[in-house]
This record gives sequence, C-alpha cells and structure tokens, in this order.
Amino acid sequence: MPNKLSYTASYIAVKFYGLTLNPKIAEHFDEFTLEFYKNVVSYLPKHLSWNQKSLQSRLWRDFFTWWEELLLPGDLMHIICRKYYIQKMLEKNLLSEDYEQIVILGSGFDHSGALYSSKGFSVFEIDTPFMISNKQKMLGQFCFSLAGLHLCSIDPTNQNIKEVLTQTHVFDFDKKTLFLAEGFFDYLSLNSVRSILESIKSFSSNFKIVSTFFDLGELNSFHRFMFTSGVAMVGETLKFPLNRKKFLELMSEYEIETKSQLSYAEMRSDLVEKMNLETDLSVLKGFYILESELN
Ligand SMILES: C[S@@+](CC[C@H](N)C(=O)[O-])C[C@H]1O[C@@H](n2cnc3c(N)ncnc32)[C@H](O)[C@@H]1O
Repeated sequence: MPNKLSYTASYIAVKFYGLTLNPKIAEHFDEFTLEFYKNVVSYLPKHLSWNQKSLQSRLWRDFFTWWEELLLPGDLMHIICRKYYIQKMLEKNLLSEDYEQIVILGSGFDHSGALYSSKGFSVFEIDTPFMISNKQKMLGQFCFSLAGLHLCSIDPTNQNIKEVLTQTHVFDFDKKTLFLAEGFFDYLSLNSVRSILESIKSFSSNFKIVSTFFDLGELNSFHRFMFTSGVAMVGETLKFPLNRKKFLELMSEYEIETKSQLSYAEMRSDLVEKMNLETDLSVLKGFYILESELN
C-alpha cells in the first residue's frame, strides 16, 4: 500500500456526506457522525473538498446517484450500511461484553476511533504514515479530542501490528480487544492477510474481529469490472483473491470462527426499507459484514 492519500478512504467520506444530506438517511446517524464526515470532506484536498459545495445541489446529488447506480448498483448504499451496522455491532459488543480497547485496521478517515475514544475507550487506529498524519491534522483542525485515541502509523512491508501496538506503550496485551477491519482485508494480498491474522493471534487470546467482505464472485462480470477498475483508477487494488467461503476457511485455520454474517440482502430489507427513500437504492451484491472470534 503506497504511503499517500487513500482515495478509497476519501471517497467513503464524500459519499457518506453526500448521502446523509438526505434527511431520511441522516436520521439513522447521530450528530457526531454526521459532523465528523462533513469535517473530513472540508479537510480533503481541493479536488475532493469541492464536493461539499456541489453536493448541496439536489440536482447534482440525484445525477451523481443515478450515475453511480448505473455503473455499480448498491455501491453508494453499501457505504451507509457499513457505517450504520458496524456502529451497531461495536456498540453491542462494547456494552454487552467487557471489551476495553479497540484496534482499527486501515482506519482511513473513519469516525469510530474519535467516537469511541470520546466515550472513554482506548482506541488504536493503524494506517500508513501519510494517512495517520492527515488524520491527526484533520482531528486537530476540527478540535476533536485525542485523549484515549492512539494514531499509529505502520510501514506494512517492515512492521507488523504487534510492533506498532507495542510502540504505543499503552496498548494492553492482556485486555479483551475488539478489532475493526472495515474495507481492509479486501485490499491486501493473501500473504498479508495471513501475517495479520498470525500477528493478532500471537499477542491476543481474547478478541473479536468485525470485518467487511466483498465477494466479487457474486457480481456479474460488468459490475465486477466496474468495481475493480474504479478502485484501480484511484491507484489502489482489490488484491484479496478468495471468495467468502474460502475466507471463512482461512480464518478457521487460525481458529477464528465467524459467528455472524450480515448480507447485503438483509441490510437492504432492514435499513434501506426503513428509510423509505424516494428512489429505491440497492446494496452492493456480494457485500457482507462479519463478526468473528477466537474459538
Ligand atoms: C478502503 S479504505 C477504508 C478506510 C476505513 N476503514 C473506512 O472504511 O472508512 C482502506 C484503508 O486501509 C489503509 N491500508 C491499506 N493497506 C494497509 C496496511 N497494510 N496497513 C494499514 N493500513 C492499510 C489505506 O491507507 C486506507 O486508509
């Protein structure tokens, strides 16, 4: 992963911001989250932050949605769904089980670190040095508290997660840990995913991983091409070669069992139905949110 601005992470913020200008979508999120992504968009470089102004126009938003739906149906709504359901899953685990710390892998411009550290949890965000320094600047510019939030840069070719967490001197290897891997594994090679799972297992015996998964095999060839080429156009690659069944088998090699799988179809018939939108929007085929834990 090159040490530069991640456009996939940036566009997640732009799309979330644009979609939540619709009150029927916004009402499913709290003020903190809505404000957070608005701030991210205005922080981004000019060629991305202009969206903050242009998306104010309903006409432009409708065109943007129509165009996106034409090329890759469900891509927009999957962003809303992942932010919504992941927040629900994190909350459920943090409240009902005694997780005391959260590690966010490939945190990009995600809001969860700032949100849960503000609620008193220790949170460790891991990303490339460029992304981490930009996250730090963005949080500083909009006066978010850094108390309890540890921004950790990693050089993935020379460092592993354990080293990075050790360097913080505050990560507690004995505490029950919740890992978030949202839009993360899909961008890594099989070997990188293996070494991350190995690294996690080497230092933690009590953890849960909330992760997203794109099963590209469930898309038709045109939509698969649009997805992979869209990511390639911004200089990133969907490298992970396995389908969902093989991914679950890979996890079980490390004695990590996937206890729940929320599918795009379930997200659509639950959240999207509830929204009762003017235009019917699907959720990206092949998109799943998984909850997995050590056996
Ligand atoms: C698709 S973005 C997702 C961002 C965020 N998780 C979200 O869903 O809003 C992927 C992020 O992973 C980061 N990344 C990619 N490879 C990485 C690696 N090996 N270690 C840490 N971060 C990585 C990228 O810089 C980028 O910020």
